[in-house]
Amino acid sequence: MAIEHHYDVGADFYRLWLDTAMVYSCGLWDGPLDDDLEAAQQAKLAWHASAAGVGAGTKVLDVGCGWGANLRYLTEQRRAAHVTGLTLSSDQAASVAPAETTAIRLEDWRDHRPDGPYDAIISIGAFEHFARQDLDDAARSGVYAHFFDLCARWLVPGGGMSLQTIAYEDFDPSAGAVSSFFTEEIFPESSLPRLGQIISAAETRFRLVAYRSDGAQYSQTLKLWQRRLEASADEATEMVGRDTYRRYLRYLRVSRAMFDRRICTLYRFGFERRPDALVDGSAPAGA
Ligand SMILES: C[S@@+](CC[C@H](N)C(=O)[O-])C[C@H]1O[C@@H](n2cnc3c(N)ncnc32)[C@H](O)[C@@H]1O
Repeated sequence: MAIEHHYDVGADFYRLWLDTAMVYSCGLWDGPLDDDLEAAQQAKLAWHASAAGVGAGTKVLDVGCGWGANLRYLTEQRRAAHVTGLTLSSDQAASVAPAETTAIRLEDWRDHRPDGPYDAIISIGAFEHFARQDLDDAARSGVYAHFFDLCARWLVPGGGMSLQTIAYEDFDPSAGAVSSFFTEEIFPESSLPRLGQIISAAETRFRLVAYRSDGAQYSQTLKLWQRRLEASADEATEMVGRDTYRRYLRYLRVSRAMFDRRICTLYRFGFERRPDALVDGSAPAGA
């Protein structure tokens, strides 16, 4: 399956070019775009924790938790009582040791059945994978609405949610594929949303309380990843072979061009569950 295809090249390969916490999504800079990837990734996790309202003693869900950097951040820096992470990659699921305060599950959000309500939900860099490319616009919107609906059910009333996703900006996806290399070789089962699709899928259940558009920051993140991968060229080639090494370099370059040309951008949202989010009478999580 697609996610396995992308991640199961092995964590050691990603370790060569990601930051030390192994965060695989756009960093956040509040000032000038400098070369401090470590600080930018921690600043990004901090922004999401605040936007979702994670505090001491809270129970949190991380949809698409990667190698668990956010799980560690939330329990260690924000003193969350418990964080559950979901991933579709068995390599990622196996990389996080079970602990009293964290649980990582090899599970699609569509199949998630929480033990009880969450105080906050965070999803960083996973939304891009939720709807398959072969779905039409209406079906993709349906997937996004389903996601927000489940999240609303899983949250306590007034609970917070933060979301980070790449989305189309100056581009109409119905006009044709952006890059067949990107969509077929790197992420064969993903497709990007448009801003309006995200907001209309969310707004019946959630208030929008924070919003940022940070496409230039993804370009900077990709530049730093590319620089690090090139600096480890020999080791990377020995680890995964020349073809895979070159394919990843190309993926980083193509992705960066997509942000620089404003074909796509990077959105970060903070949401708050509406008090009347479940007016249809359906049961909340854990009921
Ligand atoms: C680009 S990585 C981002 C990981 C992490 N949030 C970070 O910032 O480092 C995308 C993550 O989303 C997960 N994912 C994608 N689709 C998912 C789904 N339907 N259900 C659960 N996890 C999903 C992948 O397994 C992967 O862990």
